[in-house]
Amino acid sequence: MRIDVVSIFPTIFDALEVSLLGKARQSGLLDVRVHDLRDYTHDRHRTVDDTPYGGGAGMVMKPAPWGEALDDVTRDAAASPVIVFPSPAGERFTQKIARELSTEDHLVFGCGRYEGIDERVFDYAADLGRVRLLSLGDYVLNGGEVAVMAMVEAIGRLIPGVVGNPESLVEESHEDGLLEYPSFTKPASWRGRDVPPVLLSGNHGAVATWRREQQLERTRERRPDLLAD
Ligand code: ADE
Repeated sequence: MRIDVVSIFPTIFDALEVSLLGKARQSGLLDVRVHDLRDYTHDRHRTVDDTPYGGGAGMVMKPAPWGEALDDVTRDAAASPVIVFPSPAGERFTQKIARELSTEDHLVFGCGRYEGIDERVFDYAADLGRVRLLSLGDYVLNGGEVAVMAMVEAIGRLIPGVVGNPESLVEESHEDGLLEYPSFTKPASWRGRDVPPVLLSGNHGAVATWRREQQLERTRERRPDLLAD
């Protein structure tokens, strides 16, 4: 999969060079290209923002650098890419969306800063690919970079071959709409706290039943909204 990221803080994405995603890049499973939005400006100050029409606080990202950046990263694209703009005003990013996006050949992420990007950019981007505005959650970050890091990790680890043991993806939180069951390792007793005896019983059926019950109980307690779905 090819991933293009456009940002005014490209070095934030250096973190994608480590761990499983770093390995996936080295092995060619992931081709991540990070672009500095300021490289698509033409003035001495490499200006990417300006005051909002209609007044109000903060600055808005200018459309021109975005237009050039999007033209550039989609120019030699084989097929229509999905163009993601992280935004607190977007649709909620979920495991289901991560799974959908993990099957694409080419993703483009445009990281907004300040009060946002000139709205016409989203309309223009729809001529170049399938646009999605995605929110990490109901809170506001300073910009899209941290959200894109989270999305790239959630999507990248679902690409076949990125996570060594694919079975470890199956029993995770949100894969079956429930939270994950609790995990324990040795020793069986630690600082007066014992591992639930059923896990030491060797009875696989009983273990599976117990884990399912734990999943339901935790989900009911912590995330009742998931059960309603
Ligand atoms: N940019 C700022 N806040 C965000 C959020 N909650 N999700 C995605 N992108 C954002």
